[in-house]
Amino acid sequence: MINRPRRNRLNPAIRGLIRETVVSPANLVWPAFVQEGNNLRTPIVSMPGISRLSIDQLVADCQRAFDLGIPAVALFPALDDSLKNSEGTESLNPNGLLQRAVKELKKTIPGMLVITDVALDPYSCDGHDGLVQDGKILNDETLPLLAEMAVAQAQAGADVVAPSDMMDGRVEAIRWALDDAGFPDVLICSYCAKYASAFYGPFRDALDSAPKEGDKKTYQMDPANAREAIREIMSDEEEGADWLLIKPGLPYLDIIRLTREHSALPIAAYHVSGEYAMLKAAAEKGWLDYESCLIESLISLRRAGADMIFTYGALDAASFMQK
Ligand code: PBG
Repeated sequence: MINRPRRNRLNPAIRGLIRETVVSPANLVWPAFVQEGNNLRTPIVSMPGISRLSIDQLVADCQRAFDLGIPAVALFPALDDSLKNSEGTESLNPNGLLQRAVKELKKTIPGMLVITDVALDPYSCDGHDGLVQDGKILNDETLPLLAEMAVAQAQAGADVVAPSDMMDGRVEAIRWALDDAGFPDVLICSYCAKYASAFYGPFRDALDSAPKEGDKKTYQMDPANAREAIREIMSDEEEGADWLLIKPGLPYLDIIRLTREHSALPIAAYHVSGEYAMLKAAAEKGWLDYESCLIESLISLRRAGADMIFTYGALDAASFMQK
């Protein structure tokens, strides 16, 4: 036999030299849930190991993440129902929960990037990402609200705004609004191909943000479609997106690869709540090794073409990589 592929797997030194893909803490973004209160950590049952954190606890955990080499946090606020309305106006409150969290983080850990989610759902009594009228999710009427929300987040100090709503034309609307408000350096990480996925279940538990009526299928993409993602990639790129995010992660590796082939922009993959919950649940039963499966998931996302990965396992993965 002339060709013996196993020669290249002979020992760790050879395997290390020829390894094609690496994942390091520098590639990770930690998504975190923030709530009102002091010294509060409220566990999320469907996401073992993850809690909704009051701002002081969030800052402490972010410091730990940053010290582990994780450069960025993505914030999701859990609001009291009394603050929600159909237009999500609380999102503009300069003293609102999210804004205070951003300010506190930028004050305490200035080097850590703060990424904020631009979508109506955590603020909306309807639980949808856009304005709802007679059961319809309005597109154009939602755009100015998203643009104002992004500006409010930039004013609080957000480094990157991440529209996750899948309304048409929102990247451009947000770009103009940010520039007009004097924030030309705030980046836009566009949830470019976001699928109408059942893997978001635990996230909606965490924020109590499930749609009150209907589903998100008129704006999030059909899991059956790949070509349609190319169209979303092209338009978000033309509208001024700085990063393209694909979501969920592992079930959509082909879409990440497709994005890599169609755009030169940096790509983010979102290893979502349901993917994290599956690993944790199987590990709790003793059926899978959590850390190895987590690292393998992250490597796979990188191999498919993702530059960065949003994952609830960011701190676990980074601690593991330090060993
Ligand atoms: C909503 C939003 C969702 C997630 C991030 N932003 C849920 C949804 O679209 O219903 C999901 C994240 C996850 O499941 O980890 N704008």
